[in-house]
Amino acid sequence: MKVIEKIDEMKRLRLKLAESVGFVPTMGYLHQGHLSLVRRARSENQSVIVSIFVNPTQFGPREDFSSYPRDTECDLALLKKERVDVVFIPSADEMYPPQFDSWVVVDKLARRLEGACRPGHFWGVTTVCTKLFNIAQPARAYFGQKDAQQLVVIKKMVSDLNMNLEIVTLPTVREPDGLAISSRNIYLNPGERQAATVLYRALALALQLYAQGETDAERLRQKMIALLQKEPLAEIDYVSIANLRTLDELAKVTSPALVSLAVKIGKTRLIDNIML
Ligand code: PAF
Repeated sequence: MKVIEKIDEMKRLRLKLAESVGFVPTMGYLHQGHLSLVRRARSENQSVIVSIFVNPTQFGPREDFSSYPRDTECDLALLKKERVDVVFIPSADEMYPPQFDSWVVVDKLARRLEGACRPGHFWGVTTVCTKLFNIAQPARAYFGQKDAQQLVVIKKMVSDLNMNLEIVTLPTVREPDGLAISSRNIYLNPGERQAATVLYRALALALQLYAQGETDAERLRQKMIALLQKEPLAEIDYVSIANLRTLDELAKVTSPALVSLAVKIGKTRLIDNIML
């Protein structure tokens, strides 16, 4: 497994790889969710490139960029076990030299939900993904359903800008009690970890009510909010039932609908979603 820090070197090496490259972009601190993407990439491509880059441009000024968990040594050991060919692990200066002045912006979709709570977040995501796609030139890139809006935005960018790759989506990997696996779960103390199950319980409630015939989106939102409010450590950022393609809030649930939520548990902001 080659570990590469420089863009030029990565591009030179890419020329030597076979056509079918699977690419998994990550911010490191790898968990089972990332590894499911890597395994799928391994099974579908001749070569696999994984990037590890905590992208500063997708964090707001008061967000957790400096405290975001990092453990490169452990990440590299995990990726070696998965028979990854190349790990691209650039520095922030390498990706954003001082004169850097170009942004890739998906407009309306990126201003909803996460974009409304975290202004500028998706500018950072779409810009870094474009750079990484240009550098790695993959046939396929792999993303988890856990960051549902990120997926919608990236798919739109790839389609609108005629990018030459396929975006492959894999289901959210969950703990046995339903909590979606995320690098940020490490921030939770034991009490908060227990409280964090409320996100999945709220989603499961929506699923259950929908299965029983409830299609009024506002009633579903209110039931979810009522359940979340019973958890004293939870502070709701948003609860949304939206059209999966446009992210417009729905009055009546028509499939496919994206039920998503962002909730702070103590100081840790968690997101999760399911599809109806
Ligand atoms: O989902 C992530 O980890 C990040 O948003 C990504 C896609 C690696 C871009 O920095």
